[in-house]
Amino acid sequence: MKNILITGGAGFIGYGLSKNLVNKGFNVTILDNLSKKIHSNRDKYNYLKQITKFIKGDINSRKDWEKAIMDQDAIIHLAAETGTGQSMYDIYNYTNVNIASTALMLDVLTNNNNSVSKIVLASSRSVYGEGKYKCRDHGFIYPNERVMKDLEKRKYNFSCKRCGLNLIPTATDENSRITPSSIYAITKHNQEQMIRLVGKHLNIETVVLRFQNVYGPGQSLSNPYTGILSIFSTRILNGNNIDIYEDGLETRDFIYIDDVVEATTKVLSNKKSDNQIFNIGSGKATSIIAIAKELKLLYNSNVKITVTNKFRLGDIRHNFADISKANSILNFSNKTLFKDGLRKFVSWVNDQKINKDNYLDSYNELEQKGFIK
Ligand SMILES: NC(=O)c1ccc[n+]([C@@H]2O[C@H](COP(=O)([O-])OP(=O)(O)OC[C@H]3O[C@@H](n4cnc5c(N)ncnc54)[C@H](O)[C@@H]3O)[C@@H](O)[C@H]2O)c1
Ligand SMILES: [Zn+2]
Repeated sequence: MKNILITGGAGFIGYGLSKNLVNKGFNVTILDNLSKKIHSNRDKYNYLKQITKFIKGDINSRKDWEKAIMDQDAIIHLAAETGTGQSMYDIYNYTNVNIASTALMLDVLTNNNNSVSKIVLASSRSVYGEGKYKCRDHGFIYPNERVMKDLEKRKYNFSCKRCGLNLIPTATDENSRITPSSIYAITKHNQEQMIRLVGKHLNIETVVLRFQNVYGPGQSLSNPYTGILSIFSTRILNGNNIDIYEDGLETRDFIYIDDVVEATTKVLSNKKSDNQIFNIGSGKATSIIAIAKELKLLYNSNVKITVTNKFRLGDIRHNFADISKANSILNFSNKTLFKDGLRKFVSWVNDQKINKDNYLDSYNELEQKGFIK
């Protein structure tokens, strides 16, 4: 396996991965349209152009796919629309970019001569929705999406339907129930299903990586629709206060970019990963309020952090990964402690040009469309 196509190779994960694969001696081709929402300048492009074969093209174009898959041994499919909240009102675009383009890739692989023998898909923990919880007396439970009537009463956590006890969030494994609670999550699950099904027919090995929240140097500081660390950082550096949804105690699992790059690189050469699905996360839950406070400290800022008790319809409360499968099959471990990764991220941000803070526009869009209560 030598020739690797990375779609979305100029993006956050793609950039780190492209550099790593080139360093390891792979021939990397990138197919990326340099979406304006994500790329506020051409720095990455100018650099990647020198070390990879860069096709500035669109995954919605058959011609671009035909050009890109030529002579490839593997495809790492990263290009996508990635904002969970935005996906709820930009529905056609999200399904078109994430689902129809994946269909187009599979169509080209089915109908054109090619040498692709492996597809790696960047999927997401969002396919699980809330993920796995536990009742002290009634075992594991997969709660349904929270309902407005509870959220309005500031009842953010889940309780057991049988005994009323508070449910305890537990690590979500790959066999957990799939309950996507956003259009984005539906598109990710759909990509997984299509790639696995068609891969089987074409004798192409497939690997699905369900990433938790990836963070680190290189993440887009201009995209206000996703990436909580970027959004908070951009607000803080513009001197803008931070509002936090719910009670701030909602949690996410944050995984450092280098660990994600390492896991993705590993599956390329690991036969045991063929046709498998893996969670890639840190396995640890961190609350959103804790992150806001830590970032404020690291930037030495005096912006105000306010818990608003507002909520976003479709948001999950908690989710963190059970990474034991990736650990045993890929020998994957989360090497970067969150506090160390956060420092590296902040020091990188401090070296960047301060971006315009577009967060309020994206917030207003969501609010006007009735997704924030
Ligand atoms: N970053 C995370 O926290 C995270 C978590 C779970 C899953 N993922 C998945 O990982 C993948 C990569 O995420 P990322 O954080 O690097 O995103 P990103 O937005 O930084 O990068 C996506 C790249 O795809 C390109 N792109 C978008 N639409 C395109 C199109 N129509 N044609 C060609 N290129 C297009 C963009 O220009 C960008 O360079 C995505 O599939 C995402 O769903 C990311
Ligand atoms: Zn119970």
